[in-house]
Amino acid sequence: MSNSQVVSPVQIAEADLLAQLDADLLPRHVAIIMDGNGRWAALRGLPRIEGHRQGLTALRDVLDICHEVGIPHVTIYAFSHENWNRPAAEVSMLMRLLDEYLKHERQSFMERGIRFFPIGRLEKLPHAVRTLVQEVAEETQHFTEHVLTVALSYGGRAEIIDAVKGLVKDIQLGIVGEGQINEDLFEGYLTTHGLPDPDLLIRTSGETRISNFLPWQIAYTELYFTKTLWPDFRRQETLAALLDYQSRERRFGRVSHTGSPQNGL
Ligand code: FPP
Repeated sequence: MSNSQVVSPVQIAEADLLAQLDADLLPRHVAIIMDGNGRWAALRGLPRIEGHRQGLTALRDVLDICHEVGIPHVTIYAFSHENWNRPAAEVSMLMRLLDEYLKHERQSFMERGIRFFPIGRLEKLPHAVRTLVQEVAEETQHFTEHVLTVALSYGGRAEIIDAVKGLVKDIQLGIVGEGQINEDLFEGYLTTHGLPDPDLLIRTSGETRISNFLPWQIAYTELYFTKTLWPDFRRQETLAALLDYQSRERRFGRVSHTGSPQNGL
């Protein structure tokens, strides 16, 4: 057997997982809280930023496999509103990583037809990063089949407040009547308007919180929590999460096909 024919156990496991995946039952939209970079680094006696660096490698792996299996929408929580409270050195390294990431991926977004769609209080980002974020967003905005939404300086409650303010303004201007207000109309004021709601939310590192990530949008989302720290969450872990999602029955408050009405929500 030549070297090129040698199949490592990792490849076999990935191929096995892929074979189990039902292409007709894939989530259209996966949202991810990438948690545990700091702990990953601490476990190895490394500075936290090394955890974030490995986290970026994990992100590339996860986005690749999502793209390969055909998931059109991925939304990642890259930097929360609360993350500004971290030590200045860590914040500045995270901004530098974002800068490196965008400079590196810019061409690949164009070649693969991926829209880079930033959400959050972008005005709080340092000027140079903000400019780059806006440039990459603009040059990829015409792509619609694959959308990578990146939450930066994002907080879900702040997003809802901003939406309320926009709606109130339109009511005052007479553009919208009070009787027209419903969920669909309100959704149009959120930064994510036009995107499908996430079908699956993944959070790594064993924490089982939502942490102010897309609180409106995940009302019916399937939640997947894993103890794996984000830098170790790679292709196989992603496939395992997708298979777990496919094993669930989504009822959206309706009665199960097989179960009884008292099954609850
Ligand atoms: C949470 O881990 C992770 C973050 C606050 C940042 C996420 C960033 C990356 C995955 C890499 C950079 C991404 C881009 C798009 C540039 P934590 O530091 O809170 O981990 P801990 O809870 O173990 O301390």
